[in-house]
Formats: sequence, structure tokens, C-alpha cells
Amino acid sequence: MRSESPAVHAVASAHSATAPAPAPADESRAARKDEHVDLALLQRGDAAAHNEFDDLDFVHQALDGVDAERVDLGVRIAFRSGEQHAAGEWRWETPFYVNGMTGGTERTTRINRELAIAARETGLPMACGSVSVALDDADAARGFGVIRQENPDGFVMANLGVGRPASDAPRAVELLGANALQVHVNAVQETAMPEGSRDFSSWLSSVERLSAASPVPVIVKEVGFGLSRSALRRLADIGVGIADVAGRGGTDFLKIENARRVAGEYAMLTGFGQSALASLLDAPADAPTLLASGGVRTPFDVVKALAAGAQAVGVAGSFLAAIGHDGEPGGAERLIALVEDWKLRTRALYALLGAATRDELLRTDLIIRGRLREFCADRGVNLRGLALRSEAGRA
Ligand code: FNR
Repeated sequence: MRSESPAVHAVASAHSATAPAPAPADESRAARKDEHVDLALLQRGDAAAHNEFDDLDFVHQALDGVDAERVDLGVRIAFRSGEQHAAGEWRWETPFYVNGMTGGTERTTRINRELAIAARETGLPMACGSVSVALDDADAARGFGVIRQENPDGFVMANLGVGRPASDAPRAVELLGANALQVHVNAVQETAMPEGSRDFSSWLSSVERLSAASPVPVIVKEVGFGLSRSALRRLADIGVGIADVAGRGGTDFLKIENARRVAGEYAMLTGFGQSALASLLDAPADAPTLLASGGVRTPFDVVKALAAGAQAVGVAGSFLAAIGHDGEPGGAERLIALVEDWKLRTRALYALLGAATRDELLRTDLIIRGRLREFCADRGVNLRGLALRSEAGRA
């Protein structure tokens, strides 16, 4: 069992000691956004610690490297047709993107502005946090619109929670002029959240309704607990074209919601869920196109997720930490420098691993260790096949 950081406890007890009378729903939803940012940043020390990306090693091939100049970092995200849109594909210049985080308050508006400037300057696709708070509140809506204002030509993803009415899907997309809509499924977070939902029984049909109503392709994502083989099959069965497995090991919403409780009653669930790599390796052949996120700390984690089957990799906490908790000016410059450094190092890693493209990373040999290996073994993942991928097809 991991111990709670004292800093998170300090926020939790300050919160409970001064707990005001319940705020109106919109106000308390907005306050939660600021709290999530604080609590996510307080976890950064833990997030740098061991996670299951450390359980994957590449077999080093001393003579198989390629020229970094030849590496193409671009990726193609193909999607099948839905009710309202034809099959197609996006081409992204980088294999990683800014994942959905926030918006809706003064402070998170500043954060979104800095994130959007950095996304514009580096060409990264960017998602926002759940826009539901903005659909009925013009002030909160400005906190999301700023993303499109700062980045008029970039690839932008809107975000909604499962369970929202289908009519919210086109409204969320319109708010940002979004190219895609993330729909998040977060049962573990809701379970630990003091004001969370306890009825998950209609979530699959809700995803289906939101997808049918969305004018742009839908990406179904978790928020840090992974998507299992069965979950991915269910999504494929209802026609969802893209899923972000968003696994355990990075920003921990169980811990965040526990810190918002008086006594952290759901700390008993610590470690629940699957990591991004576990989800990728467990995925069925007929899964939606896979994106991965959750616990990505370095370009090496990005490359590991790509080699394990992700088409592109989302980063939330690590990029938020570069921006800073207040979204003060200067945050964008820090994130731009970080992203440019990640691009350089990702290119170097591809060259080291003998891959000129993301698809060529699928020929690397992977050795799986530790907790990730236990999971893979029990789920029947072909560990030997992963360890010998470079030999497949050779005489
Ligand atoms: C998030 N995340 C998130 N996801 C989502 O779909 N809707 C949301 O509103 C939010 N809100 C949010 C706030 C903050 C402050 C953070 C840091 C994250 C989850 C995020 O997209 C991602 O799935 C997880 O954070 C795991 O990735 P990292 O942080 O480990 O890179």
C-alpha cells in the first residue's frame, strides 16, 4: 500500500476543517476543477516513481539502429465510420498529445491558454477537460473557448463525461470548434468522489448515444484506471473507432478524490485498475484504434507505449507540471521547451531501436517483467512472441 503524501493530507484536512456550507452545483463543480489541479500537482513526486513502464525492457540490438535524420515522428490515427461521420484518418506530426485536463474557472482558463499556446507552437494535438460545466454557463465557456482562440488551426479535442445527455455532444464540439470528442468513463473516480455517481448501469448505452450525436469522431477514454479487453470489445461492438486506455501509474484520481474526503475512505482501492501497458498488451485484435496515456513521464515511456500498440500517446500530469499551477505567463515557454526536447529525444530513441516510423517499433523485441508480467501471464498474452518479434517473418 502506498502512503499518502503529507502535502495531499494537508490539503485534505484544510478542506475538511474549513468545509463551507454546500455551494450551488455549478460553483462546487468549478471549485472541484481548481482542487483537481492542486491535488494532481501535489502528486508529481509519486508520479515520477516506479510505474509499469519500468516493467518493459527492449532487447538491445547493437547493429540495427537507423539514422535519426530519417525518422518520421508522424502518426496516422485511423477511425471507422460512425452514425454521422465517414471512416477516415488523422495525421499528427508528433506521436504524443496534450491529454484532457481542465477549464471552467479563472485559473484553469489561464492554464488552458498556456497549454493552447504551447500546443500551437509545437504542433501538438490538445484535449481539454470536461466541458459540461461550460454548457450552461457563459463565463465557464470562455475558459474553453480560449483554446480555439489561441490555436485556431490546431487539432483540438473536446471532452465530456459519460452519462451526459446526447444533445451535449454537438454543443461541446461547437464550443471549441473541436476536431474530435473525448468521452471519459471514470467509474473508479466516481466511486471515490464524495459527490460521485453510484449507478454505472447505463454507461455503455450512453457512450453509444453520445457517439451517435457527435458530429466528429469520438475517442472513449478512461481517466487513469485502464480499459480491459472486454471493455475495448464492447466499444468496438457499438462502433466506437478510437479508445485511449488511460491507465494506472500516473495522475491518480483515486488519491485525488480520497484527499477530498474527510478520512480517505476509498484508499482501500489503492492500486486498482490496469496500467496503460497492461491495457495495450491485453487488447483484442478487433479493438478500436488505440491511444494510450497514464503515467507517461519521459519520451522513453512514449516509445514503450507505441511499441506496445498505441498509435499515439497522451500526456497530462507531466505537461501540467511544466505549465505550473496558476497558469501564469511563462508556462507556455516552459512547456514548449519541454516538448521540443521530448521530440528530439523521441527521435533519438527511434534511431536507437532501429525504427524509422511508429510501425517499425512494432518489430522491436519486448521483455516484460514484474507486476506487468504477472498480469500478462494470467491473461494469456504471448510473452515469448513479444520477446522475439524481430524474428517473425525471417526464414
Ligand atoms: C485530468 N484528466 C481528465 N480526463 C478527462 O477525460 N476529463 C477531465 O476532465 C480530466 N480532468 C483532469 C484534470 C487534471 C488536473 C489532470 C491532471 C488530469 C485525466 C487525464 O486526461 C489522464 O487520463 C490522466 O491524468 C492520466 O494521465 P497522466 O496525468 O498520468 O499523464
